[in-house]
Amino acid sequence: MTAKPRPLVAGNWKMNGLKAALGEIEAMARGCDAALRARVDLLICPPATLAGAAVGAAGGLIAIGGQDCHPKAAGAHTGDVSADMLKDLGAAYVIVGHSERRADHGETSALVRAKAQAGLRAGLVAIICVGETEGERKAGRTLEIVGAQLRDSLPEGASATQVVIAYEPVWAIGTGLTPTAADVAQVHAFIRAQLGQAMGAQGAGVRILYGGSVKPSNAVELMGVANVDGALVGGASLTATDFLGVAAAYR
Ligand code: PGA
Repeated sequence: MTAKPRPLVAGNWKMNGLKAALGEIEAMARGCDAALRARVDLLICPPATLAGAAVGAAGGLIAIGGQDCHPKAAGAHTGDVSADMLKDLGAAYVIVGHSERRADHGETSALVRAKAQAGLRAGLVAIICVGETEGERKAGRTLEIVGAQLRDSLPEGASATQVVIAYEPVWAIGTGLTPTAADVAQVHAFIRAQLGQAMGAQGAGVRILYGGSVKPSNAVELMGVANVDGALVGGASLTATDFLGVAAAYR
């Protein structure tokens, strides 16, 4: 049997954070002692404008990632950021296929897969987001939607340490609502089984994060669910107090 994956608590700052917010990353680095770091990997994905400075602020104690990347390494794509550029700044991860990008920018799973592949080519770990809308859940289509997104977004030939899956029900993001532990367990077990089919033995080692209204007060329960290997945290990742409060679920 493959060992349980090492947990990851990842913060997604979205379009938040001016230079002054780097102080929060410094406070996170000060606050994550060796005992915590022995148990869990910590990651902050600030806006691309702060990524380079964030690497310095994190002091090597917290990994830094991007929130998106272009599928190409370079070229005539005004306003876009490539995975190679993120890697060059010292980033280690890139989020791809977040539901806000799927919705705001019409990103398809085929594009998400191309972005994940670009991340892998650049030497980044790709965090691939999947999740159903409220309407899809009410219609009983959660596993169908998550299964299709996963099948079509996962790059072929990836190893367990190159990809992370984030299950984020769209209706739970930024709303304060969360699925029940039983619902999370069902979707994560389904994702684990799909990863096994797609990746063979590697599938057991892929980290599957839960995301959507994770905060210090619900982290222990959510992180305790089977096949939950960490969290993707939005609002509660913006301050060191809340982010470390979520990570403390692994103490
Ligand atoms: P939230 O966002 O924690 O603010 O709900 C999660 C996410 O979108 O990654």
